[in-house]
Amino acid sequence: MSDTLTKLAYQTFQQGKSYFGLAHKTVSTQLTNLFVESSQRATKPIQVDLLLKIQQQLSQIIETDWRDAEQGIYPASLLFENDWYDFFRHYPQVWFDLPLIWGRVNQKRHQEFSAQVETSGYPSYYLQNFHHQTDGYLSDTSANLYDLQVDILFNGAADAMRRRILAPLKQGLAKFADIAPKQIRVLDVACGTGRTLKQIRAMLPKASLHGIDLSEAYLRKANQSLSQKPGELPQLVQANAEALPFLDNYFHAVTSVFLFHELPPQARQQVIEQCFRVLKPGGTFVICDSIQVMDAPDFAPVMEGFVETFHEPYYRHYTTDNLVDRLEQAGFADVSVEVHFMSKYLIARKPIAPTPLVATQTDDAKQLSYDRP
Ligand SMILES: C[S@@+](CC[C@H](N)C(=O)[O-])C[C@H]1O[C@@H](n2cnc3c(N)ncnc32)[C@H](O)[C@@H]1O
Repeated sequence: MSDTLTKLAYQTFQQGKSYFGLAHKTVSTQLTNLFVESSQRATKPIQVDLLLKIQQQLSQIIETDWRDAEQGIYPASLLFENDWYDFFRHYPQVWFDLPLIWGRVNQKRHQEFSAQVETSGYPSYYLQNFHHQTDGYLSDTSANLYDLQVDILFNGAADAMRRRILAPLKQGLAKFADIAPKQIRVLDVACGTGRTLKQIRAMLPKASLHGIDLSEAYLRKANQSLSQKPGELPQLVQANAEALPFLDNYFHAVTSVFLFHELPPQARQQVIEQCFRVLKPGGTFVICDSIQVMDAPDFAPVMEGFVETFHEPYYRHYTTDNLVDRLEQAGFADVSVEVHFMSKYLIARKPIAPTPLVATQTDDAKQLSYDRP
């Protein structure tokens, strides 16, 4: 197929997903308005000019996605990846789940888990029905519905959003060009059902890939999906990102997609510090998460609606949190930021030589650090 035809096919595919997402959201919003008390619904409708802007940015990310594939950053086949079997098998359940969601929303039950779900051992901030999901992140049904729901939310662009980490990741790994591809180690933190690892595997067929997540059910789903791909199976570990079970200076790159908005501020800092610890000097950390108010002040009403509509208890704080400061505080350098569609990307490097602490410290703190043995 010529490039022009492939591009046209990709644009058509994405347009189809976008219309499908819009149609789904229109019908489910109408139903939600019927069954959820008005006091429990998100309030302000989005203005037309803002909707047009969102549409423009959606077209832009699809163009960028195509361009990166065309330039060979990743194979063009990735653009068409869609788990149709999963879609037909699980999509009806997205609708059957709605009445359960309405019940919880009406009664403000946001930390509800089925009796058979084991909730001990998780941090308390994690035990939430994020996105109003039945059983939060803790059941196989939730794991089966998650990717469908995220793709609908982002009008079919969720994978294109994830793929924006691939170019900076590849660029970061270029610093280790003298190392055999098989010896390159990449960790995806909060890998969920493994969508990002799948994309990284397509770009780095030989690298040793690792994923961690707190959810046993999501890891099971990731394992099923990743084991269908050729190449070495990524190693998946159930762990808290606040205490990564890996040696210091182990990975050449670390990625994390859509995690930080679901963490309270202290956990956010702790996870960044852990990512710093497990990265090799010279290694790259790439974060993909929601845009923040400083990136797009006119999108603030959309962000505000997200808190309630999707039960995201830490999101409001996240939207004004300074992640660049957090990364620098952990020791990262050369932090750069990109924005694509509804997400932002922070790309940071672990310096080869440790940054001298004294440069930014007060006299008191300096004294303390000199006093240390
Ligand atoms: C919004 S989902 C993102 C999943 C995946 N990265 C993606 O691209 O779709 C957030 C994920 O973070 C995981 N998570 C949340 N807090 C965590 C923590 N403290 N440690 C490890 N994983 C965590 C959840 O289990 C869930 O899979």
